[in-house]
Amino acid sequence: MPPPSLLAASLLPFLAILVPSSGAGAPSDGNSPIGMPWFREAPQFYNSPSCPPPLPAGPQATCSPNALVHVAMTLDVAYLRGSVAAVLSVLQHTACPQSVFFHFVATSAAGGLNATISGAFPSLAFQIHSFDAEEPRVAGLISTSIRAALDRPLNYARSYLSRLLPKCVRRVVYLDSDLVLVDDVMDLASTPIPDGVALAAPEYCNANFTSYFTPAFWTNPALSVAFEGRRACYFNTGVMVMELGRWRDGGYTEQIEEWMELQKRMRIYELGSLPPFLLVFAGRIAAVEHRWNQHGLGGDNYRGLCRDLHPGPVSLLHWSGKGKPWARLDAGRPCPLDALWAPYDLLLRNPIAIDES
Ligand SMILES: *[C@@H]1O[C@H](CO)[C@@H](O)[C@H](O)[C@H]1NC(C)=O
Ligand SMILES: *[C@@H]1O[C@H](CO)[C@@H](O)[C@H](O)[C@H]1NC(C)=O
Repeated sequence: MPPPSLLAASLLPFLAILVPSSGAGAPSDGNSPIGMPWFREAPQFYNSPSCPPPLPAGPQATCSPNALVHVAMTLDVAYLRGSVAAVLSVLQHTACPQSVFFHFVATSAAGGLNATISGAFPSLAFQIHSFDAEEPRVAGLISTSIRAALDRPLNYARSYLSRLLPKCVRRVVYLDSDLVLVDDVMDLASTPIPDGVALAAPEYCNANFTSYFTPAFWTNPALSVAFEGRRACYFNTGVMVMELGRWRDGGYTEQIEEWMELQKRMRIYELGSLPPFLLVFAGRIAAVEHRWNQHGLGGDNYRGLCRDLHPGPVSLLHWSGKGKPWARLDAGRPCPLDALWAPYDLLLRNPIAIDES
């Protein structure tokens, strides 16, 4: 006879199937659970006494001074499970969860996202920004990279936040969908950024910067002059603090697009959205502590092997690279660190999968 707590735990999935509408986050607009995953409702997290009054649910508080932190993420159907886990991790580890405003970028092709997010996080302050107007042009600018997942237009949405978000939002924390925070996002958002600088991210000056661009780039003086006089270091674009007003003033979206145009004519790099960022910003960013992007946990871009953490403290775990924790967990071949992602997984497994177990 199993102890009562174990028994209750084993019943939970069945209860969820019997009453899928009781806070299960089931989309109410007729999406099938196969087309759009269903998520459990996350616990409610409350502000500490020192925080401002909670933001109302939904989009109306975008410009409220009580929004202490603005977070931007994409909602791509393929990575939705990761995005939902990332949101949960932000809420769980901040002192003021009801003062964080989320900006999601999505295309209307992914219907039902409003309902999906509201179902998982009923009191979340968030707005979904449409990428539809930008998408066709961005699609035309993308050159094939070494990994197909890097070539989706939404992967480039981070370059368009200064156009997509309302002007009242000055600073935003951009987060990829394959990460979880284990520390307070307010610490990351309050990174000091000197005047005139538009971007902050952890820098890696020991990485071999040369390898991010092709010989065709380095041997062409008209191109490689781009890095002259700069102490250009690699940075990962999955975790960035952006000053959107300065970004707009600097015309950085247009500069990134110009490099993408050039890439279409002559191959100057192999990766996706990262190299144009390096071209525009490397050596011109404010540094963020390395603990805010323990990246590479997904292995490399070809095989997705298991990786260890870098030495030092950890505030954010990032499964950049090919291997994603949800895919490896589902396949029954997780890497040891994937166990750190699993507690944030809100996916409500479909009834057929549970039947088989
Ligand atoms: C989501 O819902 C809000 C109001 O509930 C609406 O203003 C907004 O346009 C919706 N967004 C999308 C992408 O459907
Ligand atoms: C850096 O990368 C380039 C190009 O991939 C390579 O030729 C060079 O040897 C590397 N340098 C070091 C120090 O590893």
